[in-house]
Amino acid sequence: MSTNTLARRIRELKTREDTRYHKARPKSAALRRRASAVMPNGVPMAWMRGSYHHEPPWVAGAAGAHFTDVDGFDYADFNIADMSMFCGYAPAPVVRATHEAMLRGNQFMLPVEDAIEVAAELGRRFGLPQWQFTSSASQANIEAIRIARVATGREKVLVFEGKYHGHLDQTLVALDPQGRVVPEERGVSALSAAQSVVVPFNDPEVLRAALQRGDVALVMAEAALTNSHVLILPDPGFHDALRSLTREAGVLLCIDETHTQVVGAGGLTRAWGLEPDLVTAGKSIAAGIPFGAWGMTAAIGELMTQRKGPDGERDELIATGGTLFGNPLGLAAARAAMEEVLTPEAYAHTQALGGQLTAGMRESVRRAGLPWFIHGLGPRAGYVFAPQPARNATEALAVHDDTLARLIRVWFANRGIWEAIVGAGPTVPVPGSPADVALYLEGFDGLLQALVT
Ligand SMILES: Cc1ncc(COP(=O)(O)O)c(C=O)c1O
Repeated sequence: MSTNTLARRIRELKTREDTRYHKARPKSAALRRRASAVMPNGVPMAWMRGSYHHEPPWVAGAAGAHFTDVDGFDYADFNIADMSMFCGYAPAPVVRATHEAMLRGNQFMLPVEDAIEVAAELGRRFGLPQWQFTSSASQANIEAIRIARVATGREKVLVFEGKYHGHLDQTLVALDPQGRVVPEERGVSALSAAQSVVVPFNDPEVLRAALQRGDVALVMAEAALTNSHVLILPDPGFHDALRSLTREAGVLLCIDETHTQVVGAGGLTRAWGLEPDLVTAGKSIAAGIPFGAWGMTAAIGELMTQRKGPDGERDELIATGGTLFGNPLGLAAARAAMEEVLTPEAYAHTQALGGQLTAGMRESVRRAGLPWFIHGLGPRAGYVFAPQPARNATEALAVHDDTLARLIRVWFANRGIWEAIVGAGPTVPVPGSPADVALYLEGFDGLLQALVT
């Protein structure tokens, strides 16, 4: 099939599927119209509208790996709120633990014993001995940047092109066509962008040159980039180079496990034997209750230890912390999630189903004769509209087809399967079942056949 014929078919199918989607969801559309009087775009948070070409479904309820919308549709959720609900909806141990935490008091700005258990368990998982807590992964990343400045006496943070590390100015940056670091979106400070360095993933030589300038405090990286339309895996040896170059340059290394922790206890840090100075996480670590965690080496923990300032009287404060950070509700959720939901059996189950998903999608691609690559990583699978995986964000962007990726989303939504993020591909959550995987594979195969016949 010629590229033009395929492109026309994609557009036709997308128009048909968008129409079908809208026709069947009048209640969601009515709620958003009503909501527009009190919220910009008719949603409480901009992404809930901006992520879709169609009306967002308004949620009526959820349990396990499924949610339902107000128009009566049931969805097997394969994006699980951008990984944050990897534990599933309403996992019983977390419901119980958070209920009890609310009854005991959910917020004191004082420590509770759960903090020790959560820190110790995170230490066992990620291999770092000391931990602090926030209310989100973004905030954990801000703390990591702040402590890296204190540790190194330098200002800048280096990130990889195609990354996403959350809602913070220093990492909401991109390279413009002239190779300058600029704000990625409106509202981000150009002054902050000037404190950031952006280099391509999988290129040790460019990284070396950037670090040699001597102004970088911290490299913040996902072990595999999960926010770049497709999954970008490290080349063999890239993480060794990243670690030795950061050590040589006296730069701290933070691995952001917010998404990749779903591959198993300790995320990719443990799976690949990485040795970061800092690890950050959020989202599913507390089963989707707003919570973030950042782990550090003993040396960084020592730096955090309060000491007297030059006047010998007042403590010299490091700019970390927030009123709701480390609160008992989040800690109770994290403890229950790690002790009772994110168990070795749960990871084995999601990995096995993830493997089935990857294999089934590969078979559909082969049957359809499309030149696509299907990747798999633990519970996660994904599609690349090219025969080989992307090694960096430029390659990922070059093969991205936005209309096709959005067609896949709406096609699935019309068949009871939810993929929230364009191009992210499916992830099997802990309560995911073989029947969910079969439904996804049936939907995927049906779309591919519709594209080529
Ligand atoms: C890798 C990574 N880090 C951090 C974040 C920020 O998470 P949050 O928005 O919960 O603060 C995200 C969100 O998508 C992420 O993908």
